[in-house]
Parts: sequence; structure tokens; C-alpha cells
Amino acid sequence: MSQETRLRIRAATEEDLPHIVRLDEEAFPTAPYPYFVLRQLLASFPDFVFVVDMGQDLGGYVLSTPPNEARSWILSLGISPPLQRQGLGRQLMTRILGHLRTRGVHSVTLSVEPRNDTAIALYRSLGFAPDPGGPRPDYFGPGADRLLMTLAL
Ligand SMILES: CC(C)(COP(=O)(O)OP(=O)(O)OC[C@H]1O[C@@H](n2cnc3c(N)ncnc32)[C@H](O)[C@@H]1OP(=O)(O)O)[C@@H](O)C(=O)NCCC(=O)NCCS
Repeated sequence: MSQETRLRIRAATEEDLPHIVRLDEEAFPTAPYPYFVLRQLLASFPDFVFVVDMGQDLGGYVLSTPPNEARSWILSLGISPPLQRQGLGRQLMTRILGHLRTRGVHSVTLSVEPRNDTAIALYRSLGFAPDPGGPRPDYFGPGADRLLMTLAL
């Protein structure tokens, strides 16, 4: 990323919604969240969505649930494809994990497509451990297996 690129990670606002929708479609072209789902998630968990603000546009976003009995889920992490592999995913994860820690979260879980080596490498490097039983078949419906990974904070 060029030295001149100005970016900051900040909490999302309602005005970010169209940009988050576009980012999600770019990062997850085969199964993006529908617009209405992202609107409802942003409205429901406004303190748990962070974006990479690039000035004119957003470069990535991360979304978690608020804690429930000290446990949270990371529901989504997406970086704009041209900006991937430049450290933004790690920065967003570090930011939301720090935020969850301040909210008293002790355990963070996420699901990942079992062949998504990039994401799994990132999560492992942050301390997430995969379910010992391996991927759960049909977790998101027929043929949509997912590996659950958990981090103790
Ligand atoms: C997965 C994703 C969020 C990672 O974000 P990113 O900004 O590209 O990743 P970073 O540059 O922060 O890299 C973080 C770590 O991920 C791993 N990683 C990143 N790109 C990788 C690649 N091409 N191959 C293998 N590992 C890779 C490495 O462990 C890397 O750490 P390192 O740079 O110290 O080696 C991003 O690629 C993305 O949005 N992908 C599409 C959507 C997606 O799969 N989201 C996750 C769903 S669970």
C-alpha cells in the first residue's frame, strides 16, 4: 500500500451501508449477504461493525455480535480484493478482538469455509483453534461445510 494512502479503522455508521454491501459482494461474490441482512445487522449491532476508511471509499469491514454470556461470534470479515494481502484483514481482526476484550468477552468463535486457506492462516496466527472434530458437514445447508474456530480471550 502506498505511503500516501490514508486509512483508518473506525466504527461503521449507517451511511457506510451501501459501501459495506458492495464490499461484501466483492469479497464474497458467490454468497454475499443480502442488503436487508446487512442493514439489520448494522442496525442491531452498531458498536460491533468496524470499517477500513480509505478516504473516498471503504477497504474492508468486520462484523461481530455483542457478547452473550461473554461469548461473541465474528460474523463477517471482508477486504476489497485489490487491497487483500496488505495487512488490512489482520488490522481489522486485531481491532475487533481488542474491542470485544474491553466488553468482557472471553471466547470468540467464527465459521470459515474449510478450503479458505488464507482466512484459516490468518485466524490461526491470531490464536484461533479449529474444532477438533474438523469441518461440520452441511453447516450452512447442503454442501456448505464450515470449520468452526474459537479463540479464548
Ligand atoms: C481472508 C481475508 C479477510 C484476509 O485479509 P487480508 O487483508 O487479505 O490479509 P492480511 O494481509 O491481513 O494477511 C493476514 C494473514 O493472512 C494470511 N494470508 C493472507 N493472504 C494469504 C495468501 N494469499 N495465502 C496464504 N495466507 C495468506 C497470512 O497468514 C497473513 O499473515 P502474514 O501476512 O503475516 O503472512 C481477505 O483475503 C478476504 O477478504 N478474503 C475474501 C473474503 C473471506 O474469505 N473472508 C473470510 C471469511 S471467514
